[in-house]
Amino acid sequence: PRLFALVPCAGVGERAGAGGPKQYAPLAGRPLVGHTLAALAQVSRLSGVLVVLSPDDTQFEQVVPQTSAWVERVGGASRAASVANGLAALQARGAQPHDWVLVHDAARCLLRPEWVDHLIDACLDDEVGGLLALPLADTLKHEVDGRVDTTLDRGGKWQAQTPQMFRLGLLRPALVQAGDAVTDEASAVEALGHRPKLVRGALENFKITYPPDFELAARLLTSR
Ligand code: C5P
Repeated sequence: PRLFALVPCAGVGERAGAGGPKQYAPLAGRPLVGHTLAALAQVSRLSGVLVVLSPDDTQFEQVVPQTSAWVERVGGASRAASVANGLAALQARGAQPHDWVLVHDAARCLLRPEWVDHLIDACLDDEVGGLLALPLADTLKHEVDGRVDTTLDRGGKWQAQTPQMFRLGLLRPALVQAGDAVTDEASAVEALGHRPKLVRGALENFKITYPPDFELAARLLTSR
C-alpha cells in the first residue's frame, strides 16, 4: 500500500483572532501552513500530500507559492466534511482503499518529520491504524454554570493530536457515517467498533488555536 497525507486547511480559525484564516498568518518568516507542508515534504514514505482548501479560498497560492502538494478546494462546513471530501479527491487521483492516509491539521505547524515516521512505523502493520496523542497532564473539571460540577479521573486519558493514520477504505465510510460532529478521524473509526492505536506524540505538536499560541510557535520555530 502507498501512504498519503491529507491536510484539512479550510477552517476560519475564529478563536485565533488573527484577522483572517489562521493557516495563513505569518510565523517565523512563513505562512503557518507553509511550515506544516515543509515538514510533510520531508517524510520520504509519503506518495503525495493533499491540501483541502475552502471553495472560496483566494490566498493559498499567493502565500504558499512553492509547494509540491496537491490542492483541492473541496472544504466543507466541518473539519470532518473537509476530510471526507479530501478523501474522495484522493481516490479520484488514484489512491486505493488499502492505501494509508495520514490526516494532519494545517494548524499543527510545529510538526517534525520524525514524529510522522514514528507513527508510520507503529501503524503500518496494524489492522486498524492509530494516532499521535499524549497522556493528559492536567486535572479535568466538568463545568456547570461557571463552577466545578465534577472532577474527572484523568487516569488513562490521552489528548488526541495529529497525524491520524487510517486506511482510506476504512476512514472514508467511517467519516460519512459519523457526520459533522466528530472532531477527529479516530472517533469516526471508533464509532464503527475499532480501537485505534495510541502512539506517543510530543508536547510541541500543539495546534495553533488561541492568540498566544502564535508567539510560542514562532519562538520554537526560530530556535530550531
Ligand atoms: O478548528 P480546528 O482548530 O479544530 O481545525 C483543525 C484543522 O481543520 C485546521 O487545520 C482547519 O483549517 C481545518 N478545518 C477544515 N475545515 C473546516 C474546519 C476546520 O479544514 N470546516
